[in-house]
Amino acid sequence: YRNLRIALLGGGSVGAQVAAQLQQHGDELAQRSGAGLELIGVAVRDVTAARTPEIPQHLLTTDAESLILSADIVIELMGGIEPARTYILQAINSGADVITANKALLATHGPELFDAAEQVGAQLYYEAAVGGAIPIIRPLRDSLAGDRVERILGIVNGTTNFILDRMDTTGESLEDALATATALGYAEADPTADVEGHDAAQKAAILASLAFHTTVPLADVYCEGITKITRAQVESARKGGYVIKLLAVCERLVDPITGVAGVSARVHPALVPLAHPLAAVHGANNAVFLTAEAAGNLMFYGAGAGGRETASAVLGDVVSAARRHVIGGPGVAESTHADLPVLSISSVTTRY
Ligand code: NAP
Ligand code: HSE
Repeated sequence: YRNLRIALLGGGSVGAQVAAQLQQHGDELAQRSGAGLELIGVAVRDVTAARTPEIPQHLLTTDAESLILSADIVIELMGGIEPARTYILQAINSGADVITANKALLATHGPELFDAAEQVGAQLYYEAAVGGAIPIIRPLRDSLAGDRVERILGIVNGTTNFILDRMDTTGESLEDALATATALGYAEADPTADVEGHDAAQKAAILASLAFHTTVPLADVYCEGITKITRAQVESARKGGYVIKLLAVCERLVDPITGVAGVSARVHPALVPLAHPLAAVHGANNAVFLTAEAAGNLMFYGAGAGGRETASAVLGDVVSAARRHVIGGPGVAESTHADLPVLSISSVTTRY
C-alpha cells in the first residue's frame, strides 16, 4: 500500500475544508484511491490566524517551497496569479501532480502550466475551478469528447447569482447582498472580480477552451458585470416574465459581418425567461446549460461556491491523482488546436 504525501497551499475558505475532510475521511478516500493519503502540511501567510474548521497547528507553515519539494500531490488553494503560478511550476518540475481551483491563473496562464505538466508527464487537475461542486470539467473534457458542443449558457458565479436573487426575492441592495455573500465565503478575496464579471469571464474562457477544443484567451472574452443593475430593472424584468442572470455564453457562430466561422465567449447580464431552467437557479448555485449536436440539451446544476462544497470537487481530484500514481502511466494531455478564430461579439441585446 503506497503512501502519498499531500501538500496544501492555502488554508482559507476552501483549503481549511479540504484539510478537515482529508483528515475525517482520509481512510475512505485511501481505499478508493488504493494509496494512503497523508496531509504533510498547509502553507498559509499567517500561522496564528483563526480558521474554520481549525487546522492542527503542527500542519501550518509559511514555507510553501519546502512543503512542495516533499510532496507527491500539491493542492493549490491560495488564489491569485503569483506566487501560485511559481509554486505550481515548482511542484510540476519536482514531479508532483497538481490540483488547483484557481480559475484566474488557469484563464491567464493555462497553456504554460499544461505544457509544463505534459513535458514531465505530470497531471494538472482543476475540477473545482468552474462551478464549485458541480462536475463540469470532466464531462466536457471526457464524456462529451465524442460529441460537438454548440452552445453553453452558464450561471458560473455564485456570488452574483446570490446577489441578483436577493435583489429579486427580498429587495435587498447589491451592497448588502454582497456583504452576506462575502461572509458566507462565496466571494473572491477581491469581490470586484465577482461583481464586475471577471471571475465568470475566467470560467467562460476555461469552458469555451474545453468545449471547442481550442484556446480561448481571457482577453477575447467580452465581460460586463452586474454593478449597473438596479432593483427597478430587476422588478421590471420580473413583471415582463424574465429574471436577470449574469450569463457566461460560449458558442460556435458565424460572424454576421465577416462571415467567418468561429467561437465566441462572453459574460453579461441577460434576461432569462421565467420558464427557462436557468431561471430556477437560486442563491449561490450555478448551472451550466449546454447544447451538443447529438446529445441535445444537458444541464449541470449545484452549489457553485462555498468552501465545503468546493472541497468536494478538490477531493475528487485528489482521488483521481492518487489512482494515477497507483496505476502509473503518462499524463493525459489537454487537447487543444488553436485553429479556430475567436470572434469578439459584444452584443447584450439577445434574449436567452
Ligand atoms: P481564501 O479564503 O482567501 O484563502 C486563501 C488562502 O491562501 C489563505 O489561507 C491564505 O493564507 C493563503 N495564501 C494566500 N496567499 C498566500 C501566500 N503568498 N503564501 C502562502 N499562503 C497564502 O480563498 P478561498 O476562497 O479558499 O479560494 C481559494 C481558491 O479557490 C481561489 O483560487 C478561488 O478562486 C478558488 N475557489 C474558491 C471558491 C469559494 O467558494 N471560496 C470556489 C471555487 C474556487 P492566510 O489564511 O494566512 O491569509
Ligand atoms: N467567487 C466565486 C463565485 C467562487 O462566487 O462563484 C467560486 O468559483
